[in-house]
Amino acid sequence: MAFAAGCGLSNRTSVFRQNVSSQTSISLRPAKAPRQVVSMAGHGKFFVGGNWKCNGSKVMVDTLVAELNAGTIPSDVEVVCAPPSLFLERVNNSIRHPTYAVAAQNCWTGSGGAYTGEITADMLSDMDIPWVILGHSERRQLCGETNEIVAEKAGYAISKNVRVIGCIGETLEERESGALWNILATQMEAYKSTVTDWDKMVIAYEPIWAIGTGVVATPEQAQEVHAFLRKWVSDNLGANVASKLRILYGGSVNADNCADLSGREDIDGFLVGGASLKGESFVQICNAQTAMAK
Ligand code: PGA
Repeated sequence: MAFAAGCGLSNRTSVFRQNVSSQTSISLRPAKAPRQVVSMAGHGKFFVGGNWKCNGSKVMVDTLVAELNAGTIPSDVEVVCAPPSLFLERVNNSIRHPTYAVAAQNCWTGSGGAYTGEITADMLSDMDIPWVILGHSERRQLCGETNEIVAEKAGYAISKNVRVIGCIGETLEERESGALWNILATQMEAYKSTVTDWDKMVIAYEPIWAIGTGVVATPEQAQEVHAFLRKWVSDNLGANVASKLRILYGGSVNADNCADLSGREDIDGFLVGGASLKGESFVQICNAQTAMAK
C-alpha cells in the first residue's frame, strides 16, 4: 500500500504544539482498587514502554542502556524499550534480558520490496525484535498514517509474530467538541478489522494534547477513557479479550505522576516518551505500582 501522504514536516509546529491552556476536565470518579488483570501465558503484567523517539547517539544509547541495566525492575512488570531503528540491534545486544525487551517504533504495511527507507515486520522478527509501536500520533500527524494504514501494519506485524503497541488518542479539539468517543471507537474499529490475535497486542491511549507538553491527563480523565475502551473491547471483542488486554496510558508520564495513574483500575501500564530517556526516572516509572503500594 502506498502512503496517502508523504512524511512531510510542514505545519508540524502548528499541528503538533496545541494550545492546552483550556484543557477540558471531565467527570470525576473515585479511585478504585487496582483491577486484577488475568495473567495468562505471560500476559496481564503491568506494562511499561519507553519510546525513545528520534533521539540518541552511540554514546547516549550506551549510557541509557547501562543505567537501565543497573536498575531494579519488579518481576511482575513487563518493560519494552523502543530505540530508533538504527540502534535496535545495538540495544538488543546490550540490554538486560529478559528484564527488558526491545521494540521498533514503526514498520511497513507488509513484506519487503521497493519501499525505500522502510523496514518490515519480517526483518524485525528475523533480528529478534519482538515488539513494534504502531499508530503513534506523531506518525499519524507528521507522516499521514491513516487508521487504515496503521491497522494494516498491525495486522501484518502480528501475522509475523511481532507484538504490537497500538496507539490511539484524540486532539484537544476532538476532546473539547465531544468527538473523542467516536474518534477512539473508530481507531479501535480499524485495529479490530485486521488484528487476529489480541494476545499479541497492547493498546496505548495517548491523548495528543498530553504528549510532550507536560500536561498529563488527570488520573480521572485517563481512567474514564480506559474504562470506555475496556467496555468497547468487551462489547466488540468479548469479555475474555477485555480482561486480558493491557491498556496503557501515555502523555507526559513521569516519575512524579506515575504512581497515582498506575492505581487506577483500568490503567495497565504506560507508554513513556521524554522520561524514558533518563534511566533513573524510567526505572522509577517501572516501579510505579510498588510506589503506590507503600
Ligand atoms: P511523552 O511522550 O511522555 O514525552 O509525553 C509519550 C509518547 O509520545 O509516547
